Amino acid sequence: MPLTDGPVTLLVVDDEEPIRNALRKFLTQQGYEVVTAAGGEEALEILQRQRITGMLLDVNMPGITGVELVPQIMEIEPAIALLMLTAVNDATSAALCMQRGAFDYLIKPIDLGHLGRAIHQALRRRHTQLEGQQINQWLKDEVAARVAERRLEQANQERISVATLEALVNALEAKDPFLRGHSARVADLSAMVAAQIGASDEQIEAVRTGGRLHDIGKIGIREEILNKQGPLTPEEFEHVKQHVTVGSQILAPLVHLGEVIGFVRSHHERWDGTGYPDRLRGEAIPLGARIIGAVEIYDALTTARPYQDRMPPEHAVERIRDMVGTVIDPEVHRALESVVSQRQALVFLDDVRV
Ligand SMILES: [Fe+2]
Repeated sequence: MPLTDGPVTLLVVDDEEPIRNALRKFLTQQGYEVVTAAGGEEALEILQRQRITGMLLDVNMPGITGVELVPQIMEIEPAIALLMLTAVNDATSAALCMQRGAFDYLIKPIDLGHLGRAIHQALRRRHTQLEGQQINQWLKDEVAARVAERRLEQANQERISVATLEALVNALEAKDPFLRGHSARVADLSAMVAAQIGASDEQIEAVRTGGRLHDIGKIGIREEILNKQGPLTPEEFEHVKQHVTVGSQILAPLVHLGEVIGFVRSHHERWDGTGYPDRLRGEAIPLGARIIGAVEIYDALTTARPYQDRMPPEHAVERIRDMVGTVIDPEVHRALESVVSQRQALVFLDDVRV
């Protein structure tokens, strides 16, 4: 709302023509633009179509009275400098008008010198009010801009922290030719399985992030055990199992990851409740963790390992069918099976095209 909006236009509303004319003459001499109305309805019409800065309003008029008019005026032009004109015996109505938003009232017969000062004062108060509103708006805009900036900064930092951890996982896996690309594959396939189950876009992305980070805890596992060829001793296995708790501890400060941290912690839980680290059972295991756990087994079977050849996808799905109900959630297995067969169909089509 501009504070200086060209010439100041005043609207004089009075049912008595001589008063309207006298006021118009005086106010025009004072440098104001003046429009007049003989009653409430006409005044409202003028307010609707024209920018009015200040208004002199007779309290006592036939038809809509000044008192009734004030709320309607304030609704159309909330910042208007409104002065009431009232008879000596009607100070109560004038006070009521001021309660409803009028700035001041003048008692008839009107002393023109007093009127000039009152209008000037009312316009100054209007100006101050508008200035206050403008400062408030400016402050609100400024705060909103800062909040948006801070959010953007925070989102960037969050992205960077996850990207750094992903880079760490990649570096860890790159050292082992059998593990290279494992987490990236688990992430992509897990996201597809989540989509197949009907998860929301947000959940799918959480599962993808969980897949990328699920083995971050292996950073804390002794290298000679990680790289050991052949079976682990029970003690070594206990040590390897710690990668899920270490992983969730590493991620814990990244509060924005939310449920992803649970996916990492619980991806070795089993459907029958005999997994680790918390022996969660069935649907108490977060869905993302159930998906990542099943997909991790699938990925281990379908990539070459020192002790095993690469297994074709359809065999791997069949092999893990034996784990449904004990290790793997039946619903997750169904989704995995259908994602794998869709992928196989695409590979087949590609082969035919070649
Ligand atoms: Fe794992």
